[in-house]
Amino acid sequence: MLLLSQFLKQQETEDKLVDLIGTLMLACKEVAIQLREGELAGVLGSTDNTNVQGETQKKMDVIANDLLKKFLLDNALVAGIASEEEDHPVGGNPNGKYLVIFDPLDGSSNIDINVSVGTIFSVLEIEEGMDPTKDEAYLQCGRKQVAAGYVLYGQSSILSLSTGHGVNFFTLAHTGDFILTRQQVTIPKETNEFAINMSNHRFWEDEMRNYIGDLLQGEEGARGKNFNMRWIASMVAEVHRVLTRGGIFAYPWDSRDSSKPGKLRLMYEGNPMSMLIEQAGGVSSTCYKNILDLEPKHIHQRCSVALGSSKEVETLLTYHSESS
Ligand code: AHG
Ligand code: MN
Ligand code: MN
Ligand code: MN
Repeated sequence: MLLLSQFLKQQETEDKLVDLIGTLMLACKEVAIQLREGELAGVLGSTDNTNVQGETQKKMDVIANDLLKKFLLDNALVAGIASEEEDHPVGGNPNGKYLVIFDPLDGSSNIDINVSVGTIFSVLEIEEGMDPTKDEAYLQCGRKQVAAGYVLYGQSSILSLSTGHGVNFFTLAHTGDFILTRQQVTIPKETNEFAINMSNHRFWEDEMRNYIGDLLQGEEGARGKNFNMRWIASMVAEVHRVLTRGGIFAYPWDSRDSSKPGKLRLMYEGNPMSMLIEQAGGVSSTCYKNILDLEPKHIHQRCSVALGSSKEVETLLTYHSESS
C-alpha cells in the first residue's frame, strides 16, 4: 500500500509540488464529504447567482470553489488561483511558486441527481515578472503544466494525477488517505465506444457529422464495426472511463454561438484533461490542432475537444484534414 505522498516522493517529485498536491487533496476531501452528505448537508440545488460563463451557479459550485480557494490561498507556495467560478484571478503569496487553475465542480447538472461529478486542476509555475492577479500570468501553453489531474466523486473518490511521468490513480480510503490503486495508466489505442452529446448533431460541422454518421452505420458502414455510445454529462467521468477502458470523447465546435469555439474551457478543462490523456498514450485535439499547443488568449476561453484512444482520434482527424 502506497500513499499519494509516498508515491510522489518515490517518483522524486519536487517537495514543493508534493506539498501543493497535498493541499489540493485536503480541499477535495472536504468537497467529497459535502457531496456524500448531499441533501443532509443542505448543499443541493441552485443559488441566485450567475457565473462569468452565464451559467446559474449550483450551491456546490460555490462551496467547492470557496473550499479550493481557501485551502490554496492559505498555502504560501500559491502565487494565485483562477477558477471557472471566479471572474478574475485571485492573488495569493506574491513570492509563491505556483498558479493553480481549476474547475471546482465539473458536471454541475449532475449534482442534484446524485450522478458523478469531479474537480479538475491545472498547475503552472509563475513566470518571472508576472502579476498573479492579472490574467496574463495564467495564459501559458498547456505544455507548460507541471501537474494536472482531477478527483472524480463517484462510488469512490478517485484522484487521477500526472506530474509529467505518466498517469496514476489514487483512491480515497476511509482513513482520509489517497492510496495508489492503478499505476501507469495506458489508454487502449483502439475502441468501439464514443461519447458525444448527440442532441447537438444539427449544429456540428459537416466533418463531425460525417464521422459520427459512419460510427452509427456499424458493421455495414465504412468503419466495418459496431460502436456503443455513452454520455454522462460530466467530463471528469467521461475522461475517467476513457483512461480506464479507452474510448473517444468529443465536445466539438457547434454553430449555436459562433463566438465560442465549443462549450468546454481551455484552461481548466481542455488543458489538464489533455495532459492526462497524452501522458496515458492518447491523443487530444481541437480536431485541427493539439490542445496542449494552443496559445491561450483568455482565462475563460473555450475550445473544441476530441480526446481518447489514439487510433480513433486520429481517424476523426482525417475527416477534418481531408476538408481543410
Ligand atoms: P461544468 O459543470 O463545469 O460547467 O462543465 C460541464 C461540461 C462538462 O462536464 C460536460 O462534458 C458538459 O458540460 C456537458 O454538457 P451537456 O449539458 O451539453 O451535456
Ligand atoms: Mn459550469
Ligand atoms: Mn466543467
Ligand atoms: Mn464547473
